[in-house]
Amino acid sequence: MANTPILFSSIKIKNLSLKNRITMAPTYVGYANPDGTVSELALDHYKEMASSGAAMIVVEGASINPAGSGSPFAIRVDDDQCVDGLSKLAKVIKDQGAIAVQQINHAGKYAFSAEPLGPTGGSEGSPPKEMSLDDIEQTVEAFASAASRVKAAGFDGVEIHGGTGYLIDQFISPHTNKRTDDYGGSFENRLRFPLRVFEAVQSAVGKDFPIGHRFMAYEAIPGGLELKESSIWATELEKRGVAYLSVMFGTYESMMLPEYSEADKTEGFMASYAGEIKKAVSDTPVITAGRIQSPETAEKILDAGTADLIGLARVLFADPLWPQKAAGQISEPVKRCEPACMLCMKRIMSGKPAFCSQWDKARREAFLVRVGEKPEEVDQAAG
Ligand SMILES: Cc1cc2nc3c(=O)[nH]c(=O)nc-3n(C[C@H](O)[C@H](O)[C@H](O)COP(=O)(O)O)c2cc1C
Repeated sequence: MANTPILFSSIKIKNLSLKNRITMAPTYVGYANPDGTVSELALDHYKEMASSGAAMIVVEGASINPAGSGSPFAIRVDDDQCVDGLSKLAKVIKDQGAIAVQQINHAGKYAFSAEPLGPTGGSEGSPPKEMSLDDIEQTVEAFASAASRVKAAGFDGVEIHGGTGYLIDQFISPHTNKRTDDYGGSFENRLRFPLRVFEAVQSAVGKDFPIGHRFMAYEAIPGGLELKESSIWATELEKRGVAYLSVMFGTYESMMLPEYSEADKTEGFMASYAGEIKKAVSDTPVITAGRIQSPETAEKILDAGTADLIGLARVLFADPLWPQKAAGQISEPVKRCEPACMLCMKRIMSGKPAFCSQWDKARREAFLVRVGEKPEEVDQAAG
């Protein structure tokens, strides 16, 4: 059994008491119904994640409006009719003793929409469409309404998605924001949209409701967002009362670069960026994810003061017993997420629900049957 006293120590985030330092980092798996409502498959999945022993489950990015939906199988939070399904989702997580947080997102230029939007239009009229001031107002309002629905559904908190190269990051990035009005150009202007979203969400849910932020520390692309600016963004969020910063680096563009795919194979590959953001803020809790395969790595990161909490995405998907194994309640080694695999990513990129090559064969077959695919293709799919 690993020696992990800090990993299993409690921590407070605003009014929330977390029983340990393990969180599920948001992981889009494509299990929503085709109309964006919460399916039985999604409920079963999040029940399993919440019963893992992780203290806090951050549900994958849900679409704040149809124009910002990242996928046809994304969970929707853009209509009051979504609240019933979201309530079931919050309940299934909380019933397992975990804190339930829902991430909300606008995918911007990466939206699965006939006319994707972005801070700046594509060249010669190609997508995305440059957002007008009206588009900006409507999007800020959509974030606020989405957050109200998350609260009404009974979640313990809401997380604004400011990472991965989605809309909020597109606005703050000097690489994707070439606007010449109050929302572009200087850093102060590029920061305007992200801060307006935060403030609107806070007005909608109230100052006592925890608002976390998925946070882009460094875009890892030429001309992209650097730590010098993201550190200031972090302090501005702290001033406004952000509950936590869940730090990441890299956008879809950098993910295509060999340097990023190499880094992605390394344990704790985002931790140094979390450490830099932690240095920039005074007492806002910082989460780091990024191939934290072993409890020992998690403990080392916490012990060094690089982050306050650990985020597990693919790692928890590969082994939902990770927290119990780390706690010594199960005396088997953790199953590692295979760095060369990326099956989950390949599946969602091709519009199919994700599963993991590390699951045993019977489980993979049962999953494929459940989602209406041929079980005999399981080895091929996993390969
Ligand atoms: C299939 C997949 C889906 C993801 N979906 C989201 C998401 O909805 N929101 C988000 O902020 N990050 C998302 N991420 C990023 C993860 O939260 C995490 O930062 C990253 O995968 C590194 O952690 P890991 O090595 O434990 O997977 C996703 C990653 C993967 C591989």
